[in-house]
Amino acid sequence: MKNLDVKIGSVRLKNPLICGSGEHFIELNGIEKALDAGAAAVVIKSTNESVAAKEQLEKTDYALLDSNYKRLPWNFNPPRDASLLNRSGLHPEPFAEWLLMASQADKLARKYDAYAIASLIPASTEKLLQHAKSVERAGIRILEINVGAPHGKEAAQGAIRLETEANHIREITAAVRDTVNIPVWVKLSGQSNEIPEMVKAAKDGGAQSVTIMGRHMAFVPDLETTKPVLGTHGAYGGPWALPLTCHQLVKTREKLGARYPLIATNGARDGLDILRFMLAGASAAQLTSAVFTSGYKVISRSLTQIDDYLMVKNLELKDLIGLAADQVGTYAEQDSNKDYWREFVPD
Ligand SMILES: Cc1cc2nc3c(=O)[nH]c(=O)nc-3n(C[C@H](O)[C@H](O)[C@H](O)COP(=O)(O)O)c2cc1C
Repeated sequence: MKNLDVKIGSVRLKNPLICGSGEHFIELNGIEKALDAGAAAVVIKSTNESVAAKEQLEKTDYALLDSNYKRLPWNFNPPRDASLLNRSGLHPEPFAEWLLMASQADKLARKYDAYAIASLIPASTEKLLQHAKSVERAGIRILEINVGAPHGKEAAQGAIRLETEANHIREITAAVRDTVNIPVWVKLSGQSNEIPEMVKAAKDGGAQSVTIMGRHMAFVPDLETTKPVLGTHGAYGGPWALPLTCHQLVKTREKLGARYPLIATNGARDGLDILRFMLAGASAAQLTSAVFTSGYKVISRSLTQIDDYLMVKNLELKDLIGLAADQVGTYAEQDSNKDYWREFVPD
């Protein structure tokens, strides 16, 4: 077995597989299953003070789609190329109950040499800071702030804040940083062309790491019913998103240098995808839809894939981070080959 340890700022993770926040981590039971399957960390389902955000969970819905936008059965065995369209809300319990569960989860995680990470999605800054302090007081060791939840614009007003403006991201991060001493990770939206700038802002605000990038909002028309699938817009993700996230990882690495640890989210479906994220510059990666739609077995299987790859390639995991990113060329640097384009044009 290879050494799969990775460092994210002051945190050592026993491997690079973090389970991203989602419905399967509303209850302790799901968190325990992910820890038991070997996840180095599990991000607990996010919360904030908004009642509307909690109520939104009762109106959530999920559709797995094939490449013809046909709905697939929800049988925990989807094809690898399935995409997920969904609405979502936040953790249904009041903050105090969420906190109790979260602190139990992180206590439990210690037994697995792992972490259960608290996740806050800002509504008001004042409450965000109170909640961050409570998280620290409850003994939870890592806090992720998601300032980029894709549902921000569709949810009830004030329920979920979606920040893409660098100055705001810096201010919010710095305010949380001034409030707590535990490591703060900031999760950013993918719905911006300024992601490296946003990561820099979070770093300057004091984030120990930044998670990029959240999913895009989408609208899928159904030819059969002539209605929108799920009846609304929704966040959309699939394995096709991995290269888009990788692009932002590489661009961010170019801007901030190799030393700042990045966490990837959006597009990974297995261990080989985690390795792809790492080659693009991530120090660790979150798997959410893969575990939600295929079950906890994805975790142990992914860790085996990572270990097997390193064995076969005779590589160490830490040497992999940014390896592909650092070999990216410009268009202008590529060899000239006159009329080569003709080979690609149909007769
Ligand atoms: C059903 C569902 C619920 C989610 N809920 C949250 C959440 O509460 N907080 C959060 O930060 N991200 C949430 N996410 C986003 C995921 O953690 C992740 O960033 C996103 O799905 C992209 O990664 P993936 O391709 O591994 O799924 C949710 C995603 C899904 C599919």
